[in-house]
Amino acid sequence: MVSYCPRGGRIELGDVTPHNIKQLKRLNQVVFPVSYNDKFYKDVLEAGELAKLAFYNDIVVGAVCCRVDVTEKTRKLYIMTLGCLAPYRRLGIGNKMLEHVFKICDKDGNIDSIFLHVQVNNDQAIDFYKRFSFEIKETKEHYYKRIEPADAYVLEKTLKKEASDKENDPAAANEVTESSEGAQTEEGAGGIDTGATRGNGASQ
Ligand SMILES: CC(C)(COP(=O)(O)OP(=O)(O)OC[C@H]1O[C@@H](n2cnc3c(N)ncnc32)[C@H](O)[C@@H]1OP(=O)(O)O)[C@@H](O)C(=O)NCCC(=O)NCCS
Repeated sequence: MVSYCPRGGRIELGDVTPHNIKQLKRLNQVVFPVSYNDKFYKDVLEAGELAKLAFYNDIVVGAVCCRVDVTEKTRKLYIMTLGCLAPYRRLGIGNKMLEHVFKICDKDGNIDSIFLHVQVNNDQAIDFYKRFSFEIKETKEHYYKRIEPADAYVLEKTLKKEASDKENDPAAANEVTESSEGAQTEEGAGGIDTGATRGNGASQ
């Protein structure tokens, strides 16, 4: 779906394909202080909706690459990279990519949280993610090998479970019934609270 930034520029997301994967590599080299290996890009080509390029008036200016991390108890979406070229920042491109991630989780209905790592001095990214209700969950010392500072924050946003999941889970269903009706009404039919949205028709 196309969106328009306040300047009128057209923002849209597109698939990563063998034809444009070099543009993704170039973009990541420019935007991130760490480099990603061939396996990363091989996996990205098979990631489907979990990897997208962002176009501003048909020019590649950003990209998001995610994966789903599954353990015995949890299913979490991990944002491996989400970045935008510096001249195109603060136009809503990061917002567009993150909204795409929220939609994936919403559609899946069974993702517990979204998380990522950021360098502890990356104030831009920390402010960006806080705007969408991500929280600093922990600090990983010496997370990065070749860059300073080497420490990373784990930013995480816990997601609400789908109402339909709760209906299928008797224990959870009781929980809903026993809590106030108002809670259900206020939060709508499940879905994901993105914390903030912007652009046409969006609430702050
Ligand atoms: C973080 C990043 C992706 C944000 O992209 P962006 O396209 O500039 O983000 P948006 O324009 O959609 O910003 C949405 C909101 O986030 C917040 N935000 C974004 N950048 C911010 C900054 N530098 N300072 C404070 N708030 C910021 C604002 O609330 C902004 O809304 P506003 O412009 O209406 O005030 C971008 O700065 C970037 O690519 N950084 C380098 C890569 C990186 O560090 N990625 C994070 C690790 S995966």
